[in-house]
Amino acid sequence: MPDTAQNKGRMLTFEILQYNPSDPQSKPHMVTYHLEETLGMTLFVALNMIREKFEPDLAFDFVCRAGICGSCGMMVNGKPLLACRTLTKNYPDGVLRLMPMPSFKLIKDLSVVTGQWMDGMSKRVESWIHSKEEVDLTKLEKRIEPEVADATFELDRCIECGICVSSCATALMRPDFVGAVGLNRVARFDVDPHDERTAEDFYELVGDDSGIFGCMTLLGCEDNCPKNLPLQEKIAYMRRKLANVKDTGGGLEIRVEG
Ligand code: SF4
Ligand code: FES
Repeated sequence: MPDTAQNKGRMLTFEILQYNPSDPQSKPHMVTYHLEETLGMTLFVALNMIREKFEPDLAFDFVCRAGICGSCGMMVNGKPLLACRTLTKNYPDGVLRLMPMPSFKLIKDLSVVTGQWMDGMSKRVESWIHSKEEVDLTKLEKRIEPEVADATFELDRCIECGICVSSCATALMRPDFVGAVGLNRVARFDVDPHDERTAEDFYELVGDDSGIFGCMTLLGCEDNCPKNLPLQEKIAYMRRKLANVKDTGGGLEIRVEG
């Protein structure tokens, strides 16, 4: 690999949390490693080198290495990031402190289970098309306007990395909070004309403090989302929409504002 003035001789310091919750002898502790920086080094490269050279048992997750699978989220100097997209050259003092993402169950070291959380969220917001129409697979799909398709695909770009959840103060305080990822999912089905759910239906799912009214608008989700999804705009839109649904006790109705 060619050497450059940028990386020549620079030693990086990695402080990495290590803990195995399934081992009663294990206690959370930080371990420091020093590694020479290479050209274009990402955290994926660095962590693999640390595993090869110093710590064969170090646990962390990667699949695609391209910011697509959403499996490599971790805290880097206090900020949740996709490790495969994080370049060490962006840390001028060469010190990187790595911790697992909060709000998710820890497997070991930097590895957490986001899938279980996402599964719960998907069930909570009923993350599938609700339609009474019979689907005839022999016929062409129903046409929709290109701009409506674009708006749906835009919100479908979420990779379920969990970074918005780990950036969120409400999620830290309320384990039942559905998170920006869940509210984005609701907005995705709201915009999709294949889904026949009404504002009242979405209110039944997320019209409370563990849903749309739990967001404190601290913007951490949108600041850190690696896919640059318009999370706050969508949450604000859905909140306005659902705030106009009135719970009458015997049923829900849309409040008409004068
Ligand atoms: S909304 Fe963004 S940060 Fe949250 S899970 Fe999806 S891609 Fe990740
Ligand atoms: S390894 Fe797939 S997003 Fe990082």
